[in-house]
Amino acid sequence: MELIQYPQERYDPLLAGRIVELEQTAWPEDGEAEAFPSAPDTYVTSFLWLEGAMPVCHVGVRSSILHHKGQTYAAYGLSEVVTHPAFRGRGLASEGIRRAAQFIMERRADVSIFTCAPERVPFYTRGGWRAVKGACLVGGTLRRPFRSDSLHLVTMMMFLSPKGRLHQADFEHTDIVLELGENQLW
Ligand SMILES: CC(C)(COP(=O)(O)OP(=O)(O)OC[C@H]1O[C@@H](n2cnc3c(N)ncnc32)[C@H](O)[C@@H]1OP(=O)(O)O)[C@@H](O)C(=O)NCCC(=O)NCCS
Repeated sequence: MELIQYPQERYDPLLAGRIVELEQTAWPEDGEAEAFPSAPDTYVTSFLWLEGAMPVCHVGVRSSILHHKGQTYAAYGLSEVVTHPAFRGRGLASEGIRRAAQFIMERRADVSIFTCAPERVPFYTRGGWRAVKGACLVGGTLRRPFRSDSLHLVTMMMFLSPKGRLHQADFEHTDIVLELGENQLW
């Protein structure tokens, strides 16, 4: 089994189709025609565990510009973190998010931000993120906002640059609006 960075280390259109199939093991309702990456505008890269030619664990990295309380931040998020059911509980996703965190730290990121289910908070906390009290990430568009609290998700963040660290308190007990496009939320 090997952990690669996609598409940098192995671009292969077939592999993209197999990532879609892997994601459907967790989110079958997303429909069979879904392309990969699903939102190319914000997609940066993926960390992918391969068993032979088959992807069995995927961690997507995304980036966007975040305007919040008078400041502009380079923001990186995780998305589509999934391990095939037959390969769970072996540490694959833990290593995938560790590599993603390392990748993000090597960029000029001010903050990392995304949401997760409450039961996943310990998993991402071990990866270096922390749950931000009362923070609601609002994705989607201004006309059709997609609120993370509507799904009872927790906002996880890492404060990376001096600017990010200085303004940490600005992210607590507030909405954080990140226009990501229709139906998009990290
Ligand atoms: C969440 C998910 C990606 C985790 O993938 P995974 O590869 O099983 O993750 P890991 O094996 O690294 O960690 C899972 C658990 O196994 C434990 N674990 C890690 N290595 C282990 C090992 N060698 N032996 C036993 N347990 C281990 C971890 O501590 C972790 O415990 P936790 O659930 O209490 O945090 C996977 O369950 C999944 O695809 N779920 C459906 C999609 C989803 O919910 N994605 C997350 C969206 S926020």
